[in-house]
Amino acid sequence: MPDSTAIPLSQRPDMTVFLNGEFIPADQARVGIMTHALSYGTGCFEGIRGYWNPKAEELYLFRLREHYKRLHDSCRITNITLPYTVDDLIEITVELVRRNGFRENCYVRPFAYKSDEIIGVRFNDLVDHFTMFSVPLGDYIATDGLRCGVSSWRRVDDNMIPARAKIAGAYVNSAFAKTEALQNGFDEAIMLTAEGHVSEGSAENIFLRFGDELVTPPPSENILLGVTRETIMRLAQRELGHVVRERVVDRTELYVADEVFLTGTGAQLAPVVEIDHRPVGSGAIGSMTADLVRLYHEVVRGQRAEYSDWLTPVYGGAQGMATNGAHATNGAHAANGANGANGANGAHANGAHANGTKPAKATSGGRREEAGAGRAKK
Ligand SMILES: Cc1ncc(COP(=O)(O)O)c(C=O)c1O
Repeated sequence: MPDSTAIPLSQRPDMTVFLNGEFIPADQARVGIMTHALSYGTGCFEGIRGYWNPKAEELYLFRLREHYKRLHDSCRITNITLPYTVDDLIEITVELVRRNGFRENCYVRPFAYKSDEIIGVRFNDLVDHFTMFSVPLGDYIATDGLRCGVSSWRRVDDNMIPARAKIAGAYVNSAFAKTEALQNGFDEAIMLTAEGHVSEGSAENIFLRFGDELVTPPPSENILLGVTRETIMRLAQRELGHVVRERVVDRTELYVADEVFLTGTGAQLAPVVEIDHRPVGSGAIGSMTADLVRLYHEVVRGQRAEYSDWLTPVYGGAQGMATNGAHATNGAHAANGANGANGANGAHANGAHANGTKPAKATSGGRREEAGAGRAKK
């Protein structure tokens, strides 16, 4: 089985991606080297996780609606026209993941961007394109206790690059912080605002426990309003009965907190055991963090019925997979768990889609025509 992390997606004829209204083999997805977003970072994206539940033989996509509402907000801020509604995007995502036949945890990356091949930096009067890929993904950062360093790089301000929008170019700020942290021997960076308050990690929100209270910086502290952050706030309040407060946090509170953890789609819930060479609490993973980790992993895998609204099942049960025909040629995916069973995916490679349905097409006006892709198989 090819290791999907070893082979670049652009060399995977067996995997399907979505580009400008069509599901196409990943090795046929091309963007020009002069693309505006490549030069200037003028794109917005999301990161979404899917969790495989082997017992239910189901892959659950987590909080799609919230992710796509945020993508719409990001696009409003950056003058990008998204040709898809939240419901359209949910449908495309389910279809994309289903076509790839994952039977393991996965990650989905939708990206809306300025596609013109021109010189000139701006947002207005440019053409917008949309793409989405999905890949298998395990842990993004360690979940057994991170050692963090407060970064010398400050978090971008709302009037510089708004952090509430998930803007591609803003991740240069994260990259500076993360690189510095790694090169200084830490696992992750904690970034401060220009005023010196705690903002967030390089790609994670942050929580601190003081006694029975959970504290996290408010939206005005230049944070991305994380879907996981909101999830954890709700679970901590509702399930564990903790007080959760959004408030400004000083740097040195990091050194005296009882527990600290980071949250994010990639990071999931990552306990922090050391900050700037000082142990957090006892230096071991705290009990509130451990309770939340357990709860979070139950919720995302569909083991908590009361939170099933947050989950979108991809296959509709294992039997659904076998009978819906969608995976007829992707059977090798399902059968051996390999996403790279080339023989079975020849149909992808030559452009004939497995299920025989027409891929979703975007019209020149940007709206997607009735596509059949996905709908036919529901
Ligand atoms: C800068 C930043 N903050 C916070 C988060 C966490 O957001 P979410 O929980 O929605 O993934 C992310 C995740 O992508 C991020 O990039």
